[in-house]
Amino acid sequence: MLDEYGFLRGAESDEGALPALYHFVYCSRAADGVDDAEVGRIVESAKRHNLARGITGVLVFGSGIFFQWIEGPAAQMQNLIASLHHDSRHHDIVTLSQSEEERERLYPNWDMEKVEAEDIRLVLQDALESTDDKDNVAALTRIIQHLDSGAIRSLGQS
Ligand SMILES: Cc1cc2nc3c(=O)[nH]c(=O)nc-3n(C[C@H](O)[C@H](O)[C@H](O)COP(=O)(O)O)c2cc1C
Repeated sequence: MLDEYGFLRGAESDEGALPALYHFVYCSRAADGVDDAEVGRIVESAKRHNLARGITGVLVFGSGIFFQWIEGPAAQMQNLIASLHHDSRHHDIVTLSQSEEERERLYPNWDMEKVEAEDIRLVLQDALESTDDKDNVAALTRIIQHLDSGAIRSLGQS
C-alpha cells in the first residue's frame, strides 16, 4: 500500500513493520543407513523446495546427528514441520524452539554445513544449557551420551 507520499508502507516496505516469520529449530538422529549420499539428496531437494516456499535456514550434520534452523511463512513452515516428523530418514526429533515473531531473518539464505563430532557436541551442549523443558533436557542428554560413547559416531559414514 502506498502512503500519502507515494512510498510503500507496512510489510511491503523495507522499514516499518517486519513480516511475521515462523521459526523451527530441532535436532534429530539420522536413521540407520543414512549416509553422505542420502544427506546430499536431502540437501538438494530441500534447496529446491525451500526456495519455492520462502523458507531459509541452515542444516548442520555431523556424527549421525542433524541440527536444523528453518524460518519462513507460518503456513509453509507447518507443512514442512509435518513432513519432517514423518520422514523416516531421522528420528528422536527434539524441538528446541518454535514460534512466530515479527523480525528479520536470522538466516536469509539456505545453507548446509557438515561438522565434526566435537562441533555438533557444542551445538547440543548449548541447546541443553538454554532449555528449561524437562523432556528436551532428557532427550538432549541422551543424545550427548550416545555421542560420547561413540555409539552413533559411525552413522552417516558407511
Ligand atoms: C534432517 C532433514 C532435514 C530436511 N530438511 C528439509 C528442508 O529444509 N526442506 C524440505 O523441503 N525438505 C526437507 N527435508 C525433507 C522432508 O522431510 C520431506 O521429505 C520433503 O519436504 C518432501 O516432503 P513431502 O513428500 O511431504 O512433500 C528434510 C529431511 C530431513 C531428514
